Amino acid sequence: MSVAPFRLALLDTKHDRAAFDSGSEPLNRYLREQVSQDIRRRVAACFVALAGENCIAGYYTLASTSLLLTKLPASIGKKLPRYPTVPAIRMGRLAVDQEFKGQGLGGALLADALDRSARSEIAAYALMVDAKDAVAAAFYQHHGFIALPDSPLALFLPLVTTQGLRMATSQ
Ligand SMILES: CC(C)(COP(=O)(O)OP(=O)(O)OC[C@H]1O[C@@H](n2cnc3c(N)ncnc32)[C@H](O)[C@@H]1OP(=O)(O)O)[C@@H](O)C(=O)NCCC(=O)NCCS
Repeated sequence: MSVAPFRLALLDTKHDRAAFDSGSEPLNRYLREQVSQDIRRRVAACFVALAGENCIAGYYTLASTSLLLTKLPASIGKKLPRYPTVPAIRMGRLAVDQEFKGQGLGGALLADALDRSARSEIAAYALMVDAKDAVAAAFYQHHGFIALPDSPLALFLPLVTTQGLRMATSQ
């Protein structure tokens, strides 16, 4: 997979949010109108892939969340401590501008979110996502995410998988 030279950064006021068009109006509107407030209130962090100086080619958001142990597949839940919930990180939104789709950027942003989550000193069991529809869910499944048995549009990937890979490569 070859990804064009994008630069990853925290969203900044100088980035051009108005020109971003993922083809999904709720995801465009969120970036234009809502995300700054969420950042100020510390309910989301927003990371962008920049093409050039200020052109946003893609973005994603991360925040803390928790997963009910009873919602996980039984085979996974039985290996976890018997607390009612397990800590997780939620990728609330992920979108790529239509001009940059199909070039590996969505996959690269997902990999960055997984790496960032696995590197955090604050423990989280998994990265979880709420897919907006079945097509988006297929994108996550393609990357190894597992759907919750009762909620097929809510998917998770245990971070221990990616952490193991990082430890192996850093030695
Ligand atoms: C979903 C989205 C982020 C994918 O971004 P993208 O940059 O076009 O995807 P990539 O080019 O990185 O694709 C990476 C891989 O995922 C695969 N893929 C892409 N979309 C897929 C889908 N819907 N189902 C299954 N696989 C998919 C690609 O074939 C590619 O596979 P490969 O690495 O084996 O070659 C983008 O299409 C988008 O912004 N959609 C609108 C918003 C959206 O649906 N967001 C999802 C969260 S709600």
